[in-house]
Amino acid sequence: MKSILNFQKMKQTKTKISMVTCYDYWTSRILNTTSIDCLLVGDSASMVMHGYKTPIAATVEMMAVHVAAVEKGAPDKLIIGDMPFLSFRKSLESSFQAAETLMRAGAQALKLEGVDGHEEFIQKLVQSGVPVMGHLGLTPQSVHALGGFKVQGREKIQAEKLKADALKLQDLGVFSLVLECVPSPLANQVTQSLKIPTIGIGAGADTDGQVLVLQDLLGSNPDFHPHFLKTFANIHQIIGDAIGAFDQQVKTGEFPSIQESYE
Ligand code: KIV
Repeated sequence: MKSILNFQKMKQTKTKISMVTCYDYWTSRILNTTSIDCLLVGDSASMVMHGYKTPIAATVEMMAVHVAAVEKGAPDKLIIGDMPFLSFRKSLESSFQAAETLMRAGAQALKLEGVDGHEEFIQKLVQSGVPVMGHLGLTPQSVHALGGFKVQGREKIQAEKLKADALKLQDLGVFSLVLECVPSPLANQVTQSLKIPTIGIGAGADTDGQVLVLQDLLGSNPDFHPHFLKTFANIHQIIGDAIGAFDQQVKTGEFPSIQESYE
């Protein structure tokens, strides 16, 4: 999938959309050869790649470096760049500068968390030809206001607000919407109420697509097992075993052999 137009078609034909995060060149080269529909250069890069505890540490410059690396390795994939914390909240001018930096780095669409207070920016961005993906529910850039990484929309008032915000984002012109950590029935209601596709993470099976952080689904961190996560590999073990074998062969002198040496 290289175009946002496919998102609409996939919703209409009830074809599920698959998305994973990607932050670097070497994994983007692998992902480019797979059937995954699109890549999200998420601000979770600040946590997964740089070791911060929240995405608040992500900056436009950090995101642009990751977007550029991913774009080089995955020329056949639609690449969505995340606008980081406060980068779309200061002024229209600085928000457009941030958007321009990420688009020029190689993003083909941008994702923004929330909607209140940046309606005008979203609308103008869409009018400027930048496809925008929304993000509601657990919006990690607001982790301190939300009191932690918690399921959102359990209370009726929260759920009604989320439904209204989803419709507002659709009216502003976003082409799809990430729903993060919301109860499945609420995600289902939002999905049914929208013409644009929803992509869930911790939002149950009824969204139009699913997204996971690449390193999470590959099982890179045995200490991280939130309820919504399914791991499809154990790269922690695979990498550990490979490095152990290398270390052992270096120490025994088995590597390098004649085969790996120049005469
Ligand atoms: O930054 C990110 O990885 C995200 C996804 C979890 C949706 O926003």
